[in-house]
Amino acid sequence: MEDIPYGHQTIDEQDRVSVDNVLKSNWLTTGPKVPEFESEIEKYIGCRHAVVVNSGTSALDIAVQTLNLPKGSEVITTPFTFAATNNALLYHDLKPVFADIERESRNIDPDRIREKISRKTRAIIFVDYAGQPCRINEIREIASEHDLPLIEDACHAFGASYQGKKIGSCAADMTVFSFHPVKPITTGEGGAVVTNNPDYAKKASLLRTHGIDKGAWDRFGPDATWAYDMVELGRNYRMTDIQAALGVSQIKKTDSFITARNRIARMYSDLLADVPFIETSVTMQGVLHGWHIYTILLKNMSRNKFFAFMKKQGVGVNVHYIPTYHLSYYRRNVPVNPDDYPVTEDVFNRIITLPIFPSLTDDKIEYIAECIKKAGKMVV
Ligand SMILES: Cc1ncc(COP(=O)(O)O)c(C=O)c1O
Repeated sequence: MEDIPYGHQTIDEQDRVSVDNVLKSNWLTTGPKVPEFESEIEKYIGCRHAVVVNSGTSALDIAVQTLNLPKGSEVITTPFTFAATNNALLYHDLKPVFADIERESRNIDPDRIREKISRKTRAIIFVDYAGQPCRINEIREIASEHDLPLIEDACHAFGASYQGKKIGSCAADMTVFSFHPVKPITTGEGGAVVTNNPDYAKKASLLRTHGIDKGAWDRFGPDATWAYDMVELGRNYRMTDIQAALGVSQIKKTDSFITARNRIARMYSDLLADVPFIETSVTMQGVLHGWHIYTILLKNMSRNKFFAFMKKQGVGVNVHYIPTYHLSYYRRNVPVNPDDYPVTEDVFNRIITLPIFPSLTDDKIEYIAECIKKAGKMVV
């Protein structure tokens, strides 16, 4: 059997035609397709504003900058995430204050957030790990009690929902998505900030294009005038029309992708239910899980040996994530004692990501489950 990656994009003829139409047009970078994609996101999520950019990392960066927090402010966040979540704080001289996670969901624990609130806390950034929404109402309650803005890193969770509401329309002041190829929908590279706050949307939109008050379409398009001003210190985080055209086509398929991911997750959970050395993933009450990744926890088994065995079988296992406080840049600049994060440490030491993407076939899922069972006999 050919090697199975842990994640993969799902691209069809409709996607190719959509991109090809832009390639045949006169406008490749931010043009008419970008606002079209933004309006499709707004309709899909049920939010007022979407600002698309060239990556989830850029989206996090401008979301944090939009809050305009004083340098040195503390922002409570999870250590069990991709570095980009926490890096967005460092870009703006803010201090990540880590709160431990919950074992079942791997999401930040609202009770641990409460313990980390200090006089210097100015915001909270939480991550919907693997596409599973956090306990958002509880996090919102804490934020409201302490008058803190909330950013939701939903880079894994486009299309997921919480208590019947799409992620991006729930409770965060700004929600950030990624459209990297392994994510729920893709634009090659890409991201978005969504919000119901018009001031945040306006600022985020300025920041993605140098802080200049007119985009290229306004300056060079059919109704162009020459004048512009730079009102914020922004960057070039623009999404191209090529990417946006792919987004316009991909977003139509979001729900079918999420359904496919849920089916695969159910299959894994059924096939692995009785395997004694594995804890399968758990879906919390009241959420539609996006299943960006499917993770298991190993019991009484060497993770390194298991990992090597699965790789040898051609199964693209992975580890999501090395807690950010273990990364050397963080060890130097944001030192913490890992013992203060017992759940993150326990999950990190035992976790394995299994392949999941909409086109993963039943025979491959069964093969992966068989390999896991075999690993139990070969690996200790
Ligand atoms: C939780 C999380 N936040 C942010 C990002 C950054 O997104 P991007 O790769 O689009 O920059 C990722 C990417 O994997 C992620 O997993």
